[in-house]
Amino acid sequence: MKLQIRLLTSIAASCLSVASAFGAPDLKAGAAKSETCVPCHGRAGISTTPETPSLAGQPDNFLQWQLVYFRSGVRKSPVMQPMAVSLTDNDIRNVAAWFAAQEPPTTAGKGAADPALQAAGAKIAKANRCAACHKDDFTGQPQQATPRLAAQREDYLLKALRDFKAGTRVGGGVAAMADVVQPLGEGDFRALAHFMANFP
Ligand code: HEC
Ligand code: HEC
Repeated sequence: MKLQIRLLTSIAASCLSVASAFGAPDLKAGAAKSETCVPCHGRAGISTTPETPSLAGQPDNFLQWQLVYFRSGVRKSPVMQPMAVSLTDNDIRNVAAWFAAQEPPTTAGKGAADPALQAAGAKIAKANRCAACHKDDFTGQPQQATPRLAAQREDYLLKALRDFKAGTRVGGGVAAMADVVQPLGEGDFRALAHFMANFP
């Protein structure tokens, strides 16, 4: 299983490096391509759809990798896989660059946060060094291709943590999320998702 994932990841890596040989991304083409994403990921990448992530302001590199994972089938999703198989390397580069350049989501309009749950989440995040990979402001690391978590949809964050724990979501070579969530449980996930979703 591990070996198979590594193999698929290296195939994905070679696709991506082929893609980067083409030069600068075309933001206009990316904007046009993003129209097909709007019904689920929202206008300008701010999602209003349950269990569907906002894409705006995510590190470009992170978005490209996830699309390559969906396309190759490493990351499973009955919804995203059919979307991703129709994307060429250039589409991926252009659409990822376009979403990365959009204004990230904010906590505005999210409703009142629960201070006790937030504090619990902050404590668990600190103890598990989430910021070491996702950055102190949880905006994600372009080089390590880790995602922005700040102000992401709470239901999506919760789903992602559960999927990592259940082993139904598999990431790339540097994805340490399976190890991260291993000692954590449902109560921790709820607190973490609430804390990140309400992170300004
Ligand atoms: C029919 C709905 C739908 C459409 C259309 C759609 N997506 Fe998605 N997308 C999803 C869902 C649902 C997920 C979450 C999958 C999961 O459960 O992990 C997702 C996840 C993603 C992710 C992973 C983000 C993360 O934070 O992990 C990326 C990147 C993405 N989509 C890009 C796109 C792009 C680019 C398009 C347009 C070309 C697109 N999607 C069109 C529903 C959709
Ligand atoms: C050692 C590095 C590392 C640490 C520590 C880490 N993460 Fe991650 N995280 C990653 C990487 C890499 C990914 C992208 C995984 C992939 O490629 O699928 C990720 C993805 C995620 C996602 C998916 C978000 C999305 O948009 O799809 C969530 C949620 C998340 N991490 C939460 C956390 C939380 C909460 C903690 C602390 C308890 C944490 N992470 C600690 C590296 C890390």
